[in-house]
Amino acid sequence: MSAVPPPPRPATIRPASGRLGVLTPGLGAVATTFIAGVESIRRGLSRPIGSLTQMATIRLGKRTENRSPLIRDLVPLAGLDDLVFGAWDPIPDDALTAARKAGVLDEKDLAPVAAFLEGIQPMPAVFDNRYVSRIHGTNVKAGKSKRDLAEQLRQDIRDFRARTRADRLVVVWCASTEVYIKPGPQHATLAAFEKAMHESDDAIAPSMCYAWAALMEGVPYANGAPNLTVDTPALIELANARELPVSGKDFKTGQTWMKTVIAPGLKARMLGLRGWYSTNILGNRDGEVLDDPASFKTKEESKLSVLHTILQPELYPELYKDFSHVVRINYYPPRGDNKEGWDNIDIVGWLNYPMQIKVNFLCRDSILAAPIVLDLALFSDFAQRAGMKGIQEWLSFYYKSPMAAPGLQPEHDLFIQQTKLKNTLRHLMGEEQITHLGLEYYA
Ligand SMILES: NC(=O)c1ccc[n+]([C@@H]2O[C@H](COP(=O)([O-])OP(=O)(O)OC[C@H]3O[C@@H](n4cnc5c(N)ncnc54)[C@H](O)[C@@H]3O)[C@@H](O)[C@H]2O)c1
Repeated sequence: MSAVPPPPRPATIRPASGRLGVLTPGLGAVATTFIAGVESIRRGLSRPIGSLTQMATIRLGKRTENRSPLIRDLVPLAGLDDLVFGAWDPIPDDALTAARKAGVLDEKDLAPVAAFLEGIQPMPAVFDNRYVSRIHGTNVKAGKSKRDLAEQLRQDIRDFRARTRADRLVVVWCASTEVYIKPGPQHATLAAFEKAMHESDDAIAPSMCYAWAALMEGVPYANGAPNLTVDTPALIELANARELPVSGKDFKTGQTWMKTVIAPGLKARMLGLRGWYSTNILGNRDGEVLDDPASFKTKEESKLSVLHTILQPELYPELYKDFSHVVRINYYPPRGDNKEGWDNIDIVGWLNYPMQIKVNFLCRDSILAAPIVLDLALFSDFAQRAGMKGIQEWLSFYYKSPMAAPGLQPEHDLFIQQTKLKNTLRHLMGEEQITHLGLEYYA
């Protein structure tokens, strides 16, 4: 790849005026925890813990300047009060019923926002049991072809925009993980993709209908599951042509987030790795969907890619060649959304002496995912207003399996991702890049 300078800073960033509609395919554990949380925060009942857009600061200029505003004070982001919500789901439950069934939030947290949640009814979904076998819903669209179904989604988007008087929209996929599919000729160009939609080709997954519809309606798309969806030349072509930001794949929440914290630490100290065994028990609906081997395969691919890219065995064969990496997810209903993950990490130190690290993470999946949905919605909208189009690599921070330009290694290290995110914000806002060189303080 030739070294070209970064695109110039936009001359103007359109203001975040008016309402921002956040549309989620999927109104399950993650989506309802996100929506209930935003409503609770804007009523002053909770704090947006875990959200960079709400809580993180960004250092600007020299360290001696002591300038560290909140990100949201530097960057023109939509305010929480300006958000309106909509969703699609094959299960017809309103957001309150869905949140109760998901069992993430306690009744004491749901009660104050119950009426608000009850008002959010899912629109009929584009759904196909061949892509998600464990869900059986009745709230499903019928259509002559996948193209026709996608056109119905476009109409939903237009109706939602009119109904809520939203100025701008974003779509964040919060629906189940679909079965694993590889990119094929149907995904190679937009023309081939649209022909395949018209012919209801098997290679067109429901998630692709949502993404196509969103992009056709001028709406950015963020992909919270490991589904292929917008990680295809066809839909990237569409995003570029329509000047829309897209990002993915798969929210980086529990075990993989930990991996992207620990693995860079091992590599930074040149400690070797023999093996990393990860296992989980999970009892929510996501766990049930992932109990299907075809859906798990999509998740597994997403989870496995992380360590290789961080540890670079091709550069450090003595330390990282042929380490064994195993990931298991077991559906165990009593655990609900409160996943428990165990990691056994076999590492190697000075003179080849083995050591072990054990991690037992009692995490709450949707509690970790909800602030990611919020940040992706606000940053995707900001990116669009700043004229950013195509793959948003700076949002890799939020994803297990980050999208990157063809031929480019994705960046998995959480701290490099964080630097990339903040430097992108500095770049867009006309602030100096921070290199951490620091020699200027000792001149
Ligand atoms: N919670 C996390 O930490 C986390 C992390 C990474 C990724 N994810 C992904 O986020 C997604 C949501 O997770 P969740 O825990 O909310 O799952 P969930 O099962 O509670 O909710 C998913 C919802 O999507 C609906 N759905 C399925 N196919 C659909 C379609 N074609 N259109 C519209 N709706 C559809 C289901 O009916 C269900 O209500 C999953 O794909 C999961 O793998 C979650």
